[in-house]
Amino acid sequence: MMPELLDPHVLQYLDDLLPPRDPLLAELEAQARAERIPICGPHVGSVLALLIRLARPSRVLEVGTAIGYSAIWMGRALREYGGQLQTIELRLERIERAQANLSRAELSDVVEVLPGAALEVLPALKGTTYGLTFLDAVKADYPAYFEHALSLLADGGLLVADNALLGGEVAPGVPEGYWSAGDREGIRRYNTLAFSHPGLDSVVLPLRDGLTISLKR
Ligand SMILES: C[S@@+](CC[C@H](N)C(=O)[O-])C[C@H]1O[C@@H](n2cnc3c(N)ncnc32)[C@H](O)[C@@H]1O
Repeated sequence: MMPELLDPHVLQYLDDLLPPRDPLLAELEAQARAERIPICGPHVGSVLALLIRLARPSRVLEVGTAIGYSAIWMGRALREYGGQLQTIELRLERIERAQANLSRAELSDVVEVLPGAALEVLPALKGTTYGLTFLDAVKADYPAYFEHALSLLADGGLLVADNALLGGEVAPGVPEGYWSAGDREGIRRYNTLAFSHPGLDSVVLPLRDGLTISLKR
């Protein structure tokens, strides 16, 4: 089981504060639990939707679609003002499920799933700029995602990375458990890059599994 950052009572308290999700998101949360599909969950979904409503980016990029859960949170916010999302996924079975779920959410005209390996798809996007990018695929590859995503990010854009604290395992001294050495190294390097880059203002929200949010000045 993925380690949790928060005390279980605090986590339960935060979960209880959330409004109930609509039947489609609730169904995807149940599928993710049953099949151990690592979706971002409703707290991070709410943050993504809130950031989109605040910043109103015309184009958003996601790395790691899974079954379209986070894409539905973002797509619903984008639909309010005509924004668009492109989301990259490697596994064919997940691409098909995401497309079916996005169709059920009536977001097929808002969200485009780009099939393929992120590190092959990202260079092909050169020339397009995004106002917000959400990174949520291979943790060991986050430093490489950082370089690509930053070059595609518009000035004033937001770079958001999920699993920024790996349930605490990112911190030296916390024994390794769920996450691999490569995952831990990838996230540590990513956070160092995000916090040391002179053109970025970065924060980590210790919400769910940690979220690093960087603003490109
Ligand atoms: C954490 S899940 C994404 C969850 C999704 N963002 C959500 O919150 O609903 C990560 C996804 O990245 C995909 N993935 C793994 N390796 C990849 C790669 N090299 N390129 C693109 N996607 C990859 C996995 O198949 C998986 O579906």
